[in-house]
Amino acid sequence: MAQGIPEQIIDEIRQRCDMVSLVQQYLALEKRGKRLFGLCPFHNEKTPSFSITPEKQLFYCFGCGASGNVFNFVMRMENLSFPEAVRFLARMTGVRIPERGAASSEESSIKEKIFNLNMLAARFYAHQLWNSPAGKKAVAYLQERGIRREFSELFCLGYAPPGWQNLSDYARKKGIPAELLLQAGLVMPRQGGGHYDRFRDRLIFPIFTISGRVAGFGARLLDGEKKSAPKYLNSPETPVFEKGTFLYGLHLAREEIRRRKSVIVVEGYTDVIAAFQAGFKNVVASLGTALTPAQSRLMRAQAEKVIIAYDADSAGEAATWRGLKILQDAGCLVEVADLPEGSDPDEIIRRQGAARFAEAIEQAKPLADYRLEVLRKRYDLSSEEGRRHFLEEALQVLQDIPNLVERDIHLKRVAEELGVSEGAVRRELMRQLGRQKAGQGHNLQTKDQTKTISPVKASPAERMLLSLMLLSEEAAGMVFDALEPADFSEGHLRQVVETILKLKGENRRVSGEELMNYFADEEIHGLITAAATEPSLQGLEPGVMAKMAGDCIEKIKREKLAEQKELRQRVLKEIDRKKQYDDEAKKLLQEQLQVIKQLKSTPYRSGGGERSHG
Ligand code: UTP
Ligand code: MN
Repeated sequence: MAQGIPEQIIDEIRQRCDMVSLVQQYLALEKRGKRLFGLCPFHNEKTPSFSITPEKQLFYCFGCGASGNVFNFVMRMENLSFPEAVRFLARMTGVRIPERGAASSEESSIKEKIFNLNMLAARFYAHQLWNSPAGKKAVAYLQERGIRREFSELFCLGYAPPGWQNLSDYARKKGIPAELLLQAGLVMPRQGGGHYDRFRDRLIFPIFTISGRVAGFGARLLDGEKKSAPKYLNSPETPVFEKGTFLYGLHLAREEIRRRKSVIVVEGYTDVIAAFQAGFKNVVASLGTALTPAQSRLMRAQAEKVIIAYDADSAGEAATWRGLKILQDAGCLVEVADLPEGSDPDEIIRRQGAARFAEAIEQAKPLADYRLEVLRKRYDLSSEEGRRHFLEEALQVLQDIPNLVERDIHLKRVAEELGVSEGAVRRELMRQLGRQKAGQGHNLQTKDQTKTISPVKASPAERMLLSLMLLSEEAAGMVFDALEPADFSEGHLRQVVETILKLKGENRRVSGEELMNYFADEEIHGLITAAATEPSLQGLEPGVMAKMAGDCIEKIKREKLAEQKELRQRVLKEIDRKKQYDDEAKKLLQEQLQVIKQLKSTPYRSGGGERSHG
């Protein structure tokens, strides 16, 4: 029982709430057989492994293991406790939870209370905007900016009037404790006791959760006033407003984002509203800061393509690049729209019209193209120095391109532009990769990518040894001393080992990432990624890995011998059948006896049920 909510009520909610339609409010789902699949909202991934079995009303993620029923889903998705989740779904399904007198309001959790208070505050601010004398100048300001009433209302805009106690007084009359206003970030403590309103004489932009509850507020100065104060004040972190987890406008843009399979990201509140007004409804704002992994996941759950429409000024900033890298890592296809310098989407739409903005969006370039374009403009490629700087930064761009085919295309073009050989750029890139990976351990790729691997002919010992070679210098050295590529089964794995050993011969350090540059085949990339991220080896002592490598080497030698024995056995049988006992046959038999002897004496330690020789 959830804090006094009767079991039968919980059951009723469960029956009325369909898992599929619930989850569909948060992410796109696709039918595959009996299940529906989507991108897991609880971890970063590029291919869908979050599944729902409708007949069981359960979800399960093959990637991170998250699982459960409708209540578990909203608990995680909306960051709620179980009783909170029950109340949340009760509201959604229209099931009434019987009140139990005064005690029930105490039972309702702090988050619930803050959400409700925020909604009350948003209504208060909206009322002030449209109905109070003080609100007139804010209405005039909106008009001046060309924001129509219909859209102000759609975004629930409001106005916090001047004065220190407006909201506080209103809330007190409604019986809301000052303590709660403080927890919601709506008031601040006054020196010497009491509280005062946080937002005064500002235009209010409520910030909604994806399901449309008010989590916090942004508050803008009206123009031409108090130039010393910050343009926007935002709610502080509260139990329901965690910074970096919200996208402004997402609750309204969600459907269009899915329909268009793309989301446009702008910087500011007003950009979102202006875009909506001009008919672009798949638009959200990142709220001024660099994009976070949580925001990226939120977007990726809705659509793969993300078009960045930041002001030209901020698009060039390092923090912006970091945010875009995070988006890319979350599996988004990132494109960047080139906006005229000094203008944001709101200004473009207002001054140059919606068509100009649409054009910028249509002509958005993939992130790497855009970044290289910026570098080309920045450096003078006709000077030696300009070329050097260009290469330095271009290498970073190349390295950030997740798709290796695409990386290659850009690499060729960079080489051409610099008038150097492709190989030279490739070597520089590898050197850089080697340098950067050296200190970072071997967590080269997200685990999600290992799923695309198709079977490659190789024994478990061979696979394990490849992992060990990538994770331990010593293991790579042992293989170099003890085995030859030909000792490995023919196929991709042998090709990879051959390359590692060749590099080892040149005294080169081998990281999985570097190694991938030697192959164009996606399957080989998968093989390398899987080997370099083998979960059972992560964090093992070097000595343990060396010992394991020793075992694998012996096992492979043994497998090789067994294979030879097998082959010879077949030939000998044939000889026996034809009764051709010539010298050749004698030699074969001799060899076979030799191999059998060897097989008996080869120490064999790892598994397999044979006796250990220590
Ligand atoms: P901008 O300065 O570009 O503002 O900040 P804007 O959205 O274009 O607003 P207008 O057009 O001048 O009215 C972009 C976003 O950065 C955040 C806000 O979310 C803003 O929408 N920001 C900016 C703050 O949180 N605080 C600030 O002081 C400034
Ligand atoms: Mn603006």
